[in-house]
Amino acid sequence: MDGTSGLLVTVLFVGVIAYVFSLVFNHYKPLLHNLVGAGGGCKVPNGSFGWPLLGETLSFLKPHASNSVGSFLQDHCSRYGKVFKSHLFLTPTIVSCDQDLNYFILQNEDKLFQCSYPKPIHGILGDISMLVAVGDTHKRLRSAALALVSSTKSKPGFLADIENTVIKTIGSWKQNTQVLFCEEARRFTFTVIVKQVLGLSPDDPVTHRILKDFLTFMKGLISLPVYIPGTPYARAVKARIRISSTVKAIIEERIKRNKEAQPSTATSRCNDFLETLVSIDTLSEDEKVSFVLDSLLGGYETTSLLMSLIVYFLAQSPAAVELLKVEHEKIGSMKKEGEVLSWDDYRKMEFTQKVINEALRCGNVVKFVHRKALKDIKFRDFIIPCGWKVLPVFSAVHLDSSLHENALEFQPLRWDQNQDQTCKTFTPFGGGTRCCPGFELAKVEVAFFLHHLVQKYRWRLSEPGEQPLAYPYIEFQRGLSIEVEQC
Ligand code: HEM
Repeated sequence: MDGTSGLLVTVLFVGVIAYVFSLVFNHYKPLLHNLVGAGGGCKVPNGSFGWPLLGETLSFLKPHASNSVGSFLQDHCSRYGKVFKSHLFLTPTIVSCDQDLNYFILQNEDKLFQCSYPKPIHGILGDISMLVAVGDTHKRLRSAALALVSSTKSKPGFLADIENTVIKTIGSWKQNTQVLFCEEARRFTFTVIVKQVLGLSPDDPVTHRILKDFLTFMKGLISLPVYIPGTPYARAVKARIRISSTVKAIIEERIKRNKEAQPSTATSRCNDFLETLVSIDTLSEDEKVSFVLDSLLGGYETTSLLMSLIVYFLAQSPAAVELLKVEHEKIGSMKKEGEVLSWDDYRKMEFTQKVINEALRCGNVVKFVHRKALKDIKFRDFIIPCGWKVLPVFSAVHLDSSLHENALEFQPLRWDQNQDQTCKTFTPFGGGTRCCPGFELAKVEVAFFLHHLVQKYRWRLSEPGEQPLAYPYIEFQRGLSIEVEQC
């Protein structure tokens, strides 16, 4: 080894040592908050940081049944209380399983806390996605979303499209005795959202192309975020680019068509979501494309998971299926032959709403959301230090037996009693200024699906041992196979 390479090796060696030291120092730096008492003598909550760098991330993410809190939260809550510190996703973190703190976090978005998803999620969704955007950009995107949701809901044909998709989906089971329900539910919610947002029918080749790219995209969202060609993450980033250009082409085509249309034919323009979207001038073209992607992403997997959870829970609750049948047969008996379901019918589906709420509470489609503290925040007798990640865990509150009697049991009738009006104990759609704008669409889809399902089929689980697992995204590992029989 000559002098130059010797020097290089020494510099590299010192560099590596300094880097490792800085990582370890950064990992334990938060302990100083405890030692010096960052906020007027208050301390950060008890807890542990686990391993350098990784902290406790792997144990936190360890899969468990989604209708249980999992061993990590159980163990930490009993050791440290419902609010504890940890080191997760490479950041010092406060984990909250406390209803009041969760509510406080959601209600103080952009004031004390801010949405803060891990960097790789930004890499896939893009920085102008509403799911990750903050501040004024988020406000602008959100007010467009709310306007779009309310105009779409009031369009004629909105409910009929959903119902027709239900009838087609379950009508295709007539020849089968066994159905892989998760796949069917995904096909159904994807068809609904693509029709609602882009006006595309399920047989359109563009729908197939978007679905294919979307599946790749979804796999990447839950994969190891390493951008090496060929990895699921890298494939997802590329799939997102392809979906964006497909959506961009559809938007451009619509703008061109509108420009070419004679003013006299303007009334014959489509009266759909896309039409409203192209006419919003507070959004740039890229924001419109990203907005469509958010709607597809938000509206597809979550709603299909909720449907799978309901089918799973109902398979074990024959009494609830009977009550549903009575409710839907009554609604059905008041309709004329071929008459479609209306908003009034939807409002009559009271027991159905209880089933939906109970499946959301027990099944926990979204286990927690990501936030960070914008300043040192005092809550009760502890401090949440500025810059720390904060994770309000909804599932822990939903399954807390001090808040819900027999919390681990699926009991839709519990929703008969007056529920907490502040909604602190039930937040499946989040809360505050980031509350899910698609919650009603999701509920209507599920309610209409149940309307036809319970009247046309009986079903049971082909593999009774299969459970919904929180990964933390929910998964039925064998796709929820059910045996169906026509009523
Ligand atoms: C069962 C179905 C659904 C569940 C459980 C669900 C849950 C949630 C939750 C918990 C949030 C808050 C995220 C946060 O605070 O960081 C959220 C936000 C969002 N959801 Fe949903 N969602 C569902 C269906 C839908 C549907 C059908 C759509 C669209 C059509 C949608 C679009 C969105 C969007 C765009 C946001 C971001 C809102 C914002 O940041 O202001 N979701 N959803």
